[in-house]
Amino acid sequence: MQKQQILELVRQEVRSAVIARKEFIIAANWKMNKDKNDIIGFLKNLNKEKLENKNKIILFPPYPYLYLLEEQLRYSKALYGMQNIFWETSGAFTGEVSVEMALDFGCKYVIIGHSERRNILMETDEMAGKKVGACLQHGLSPVLCVGENLDERKFSHYKERIKSQIATALSQVDIEKTGKIILAYEPVWAIGTGMNASPEQVEEVHMFIRSVLDSLFGEKAAACIPILYGGSVKTSNVRDIAVAKDVSGFLIGGASLDFDEFKRIISLLDT
Ligand code: 13P
Repeated sequence: MQKQQILELVRQEVRSAVIARKEFIIAANWKMNKDKNDIIGFLKNLNKEKLENKNKIILFPPYPYLYLLEEQLRYSKALYGMQNIFWETSGAFTGEVSVEMALDFGCKYVIIGHSERRNILMETDEMAGKKVGACLQHGLSPVLCVGENLDERKFSHYKERIKSQIATALSQVDIEKTGKIILAYEPVWAIGTGMNASPEQVEEVHMFIRSVLDSLFGEKAAACIPILYGGSVKTSNVRDIAVAKDVSGFLIGGASLDFDEFKRIISLLDT
């Protein structure tokens, strides 16, 4: 056997050992995709799977289909949440949905500050902060998305950008509530482009995010905050990124829409 082949075998063994040891969050952000039948089919398939493994599955459907997840995932280990929330509890806020409504449908998680909401709907870090506050007040876990755009990456401004997104959105968070928070690093240039961040880039940013969280909450409180990666995650790259330091899971868009593809990703993160 060639030296190269031996090295590759060793690399694969090490990767498998690391993946088998880690507990991942595997989250599916369906964005504004799918319809009723498609979701029913997906959930039926999911319910046929044994999900008794170390990892946690979280689905984020469009709002109108939440009732299907409430119905179909009653006895499942899979969890679900909303793609957005408003910070007020009720009132004249046409088109918005409150934390109470999320709880009413059994949601445990809410995606906050996704770059599509920041870029298309002009959501700010301050708004993300209010939404994080509303979630934590009612026991929901916010999945706060942060990440730089292509120019910020090109001109090496990405750390400043990410630091200010985190510092503003989490500035009012009580240290006792950090156990509920999840961070998601989603570089805008990697979302839906097929061009994922490399494992080295992911590791660098995740370690940087960890240091920002340490300075905000102290090392002990910050240690329990998982950091997910999102941006063109697929079967071919998920295991390489999974072994990067401080990667606690994935927030997956396109590759989570098709059940078989999503299932393959789940299996790739089992062992
Ligand atoms: P893709 O996986 O389609 O790149 O989307 C990532 C994302 O935006 C998840 O929130």
